[in-house]
Amino acid sequence: MEEKRVGYCLIGFGGMGKWHTEILAGVPQIRLAGIYDIEKEKRKKAEEAGFRVYGSEEEALADDSVEVVLVATPNDSHMPIALRAMKAGKHVILEKPAVLSSRELKELERIARETGKFLTVHQNRRWDEDFLMIHKLLEEQDLGRVFRIESRVHGSRGIPGDWRKEKAHGGGMVLDWGVHLLDQILCLTGERRLETVYASLTNITNQEVDDGFTAVLRFEGGLEVLVEVATNNFISLPRWYVLGENGTAVIEDWDLSGRIVKVSEDEKDVVPVRTAAGLTKTMAPRREDTIREEELPQVSGDIADFHRNVAAVLREGVEPAVKLSEVRRVMRLMETIFRSAKQDQVLEFENRRV
Ligand SMILES: NC(=O)c1ccc[n+]([C@@H]2O[C@H](COP(=O)([O-])OP(=O)(O)OC[C@H]3O[C@@H](n4cnc5c(N)ncnc54)[C@H](O)[C@@H]3O)[C@@H](O)[C@H]2O)c1
Repeated sequence: MEEKRVGYCLIGFGGMGKWHTEILAGVPQIRLAGIYDIEKEKRKKAEEAGFRVYGSEEEALADDSVEVVLVATPNDSHMPIALRAMKAGKHVILEKPAVLSSRELKELERIARETGKFLTVHQNRRWDEDFLMIHKLLEEQDLGRVFRIESRVHGSRGIPGDWRKEKAHGGGMVLDWGVHLLDQILCLTGERRLETVYASLTNITNQEVDDGFTAVLRFEGGLEVLVEVATNNFISLPRWYVLGENGTAVIEDWDLSGRIVKVSEDEKDVVPVRTAAGLTKTMAPRREDTIREEELPQVSGDIADFHRNVAAVLREGVEPAVKLSEVRRVMRLMETIFRSAKQDQVLEFENRRV
């Protein structure tokens, strides 16, 4: 009987590789045929965990039961492994960031077209519940016209691990976390043109690559988005802060705590607040009877949907959840962020409509 399940081979059994095996265990449409890691120690660990382990990449690529190669190795090795895999007749899923430049991505896309292989990228944070909450909030237009979104992740331990600190391996926080947060923002804003980009990088704990960045993205229609990744912050700012004409939403942290505050009626008699230098009505807290607090929208996300989609793309011809056109746009945005930071200038991204 023809095997209906999609055969995967995992290359790279580090932190993310291991996480993939846990997710895949819950996806019956996929069969993990085996694992290859360049390090003997990691191969041993994979074997001990009960997986079939290949002795070399060639052996993995020669396995006829493998249709898809899932690449979870350091960023600079994605490109050569993907090229070899597609040339060996395999579809490819790359961990984020797909590759290190638009030029590399273009080449990879060319080979995908030539070999007729499916190529996609594991942008798994599209299934994060905090992101899905903001997505739903914007879709329901609950806050009125949204004019500002702030998306942040703040850590306090610098850049983790080893290769993430090195340029040659595609290290740095723009490529590591930025790629997720920027992908999320471009998903939220959809067809809206991203008109200009201004960014700065930080090098507090590491001089070779950025250990954080702030990017200000201005979209058509007056929406401004701030995206920030930081790794030396001992007090974190909220994960999301969304400002609309009729209300504000905040998601504090990964635990999804947060709230929405909306205007319920006009405030006629504002009670001023006393500050050291004098009274202010402008900055006085809102009177309780003129605002309404609401809970954040209920959502549920399942990261395994990424792999279910890959199986459905290959078996049923459905649309990929993560399209190469989207990957291309995020890659170009990361490059623009690096250029803007280097030149200390606001850069145009997509032409304004005339
Ligand atoms: N999508 C996500 O949420 C997410 C999270 C973490 C990491 N990642 C991505 O996953 C990839 C791996 O990150 P990680 O944190 O697991 O790193 P890691 O250092 O923990 O693991 C990388 C593994 O790849 C192996 N390796 C290196 N070169 C290889 C090669 N040429 N062939 C086979 N194996 C090789 C290493 O021995 C190591 O075991 C990166 O691209 C990273 O950006 C994605």
